[in-house]
Amino acid sequence: MTRSVLIAYYSWSGNTRRLAEAIYRLTGGTLFEIVPATPYPADYDETVRQAREEIRRGYKPQLKSRLETIEPFKVVFVGSPNWWGTIAPPVASFLSMYDFAGKVVAPFFSHGGGGLQRMLTAVKQLCPRSTVLDPLVVYEGDVDRAEELVGAWLKRLGIERYLGP
Ligand SMILES: Cc1cc2nc3c(=O)[nH]c(=O)nc-3n(C[C@H](O)[C@H](O)[C@H](O)COP(=O)(O)O)c2cc1C
Repeated sequence: MTRSVLIAYYSWSGNTRRLAEAIYRLTGGTLFEIVPATPYPADYDETVRQAREEIRRGYKPQLKSRLETIEPFKVVFVGSPNWWGTIAPPVASFLSMYDFAGKVVAPFFSHGGGGLQRMLTAVKQLCPRSTVLDPLVVYEGDVDRAEELVGAWLKRLGIERYLGP
């Protein structure tokens, strides 16, 4: 049943990855890291500056690799850090590359105190014909509890009913 699950995420400093890995441990499926063709700088302030400019321009960077198809996946978990109140540009690229119509999209986010802000709106705009579930929103200081938080979220969503046979 987990063949129908895709977990795709971008993570600059590892927090969103922790959430993705916890989802993977609990649901199985395919774990896919979204990697920009040109990596962001290692320096935090430089990345913050570059991200601000990219988001202002609505820039969607090229990605290093793409999935051949997303056809077989019924449930797509999509993870992003909060960057300037919205999803990171590589995640916007990823969501623009495929047609998610008819699929269930389950967003998960990590943030540094700003919370959800415009992240869910951004996902919904890029997946207009998908069922977008209530997101998981985790503060960066709480990622040590990833498994517990993810488990509670999946239970709240009643995820089994979306996985099907
Ligand atoms: C470029 C950049 C911009 C960020 N902007 C925000 C923001 O607007 N609001 C917020 O709450 N956190 C912001 N953060 C903090 C991250 O969302 C937070 O540390 C997150 O857990 C990082 O996830 P990651 O480790 O998967 O990259 C920003 C971080 C970076 C690098």
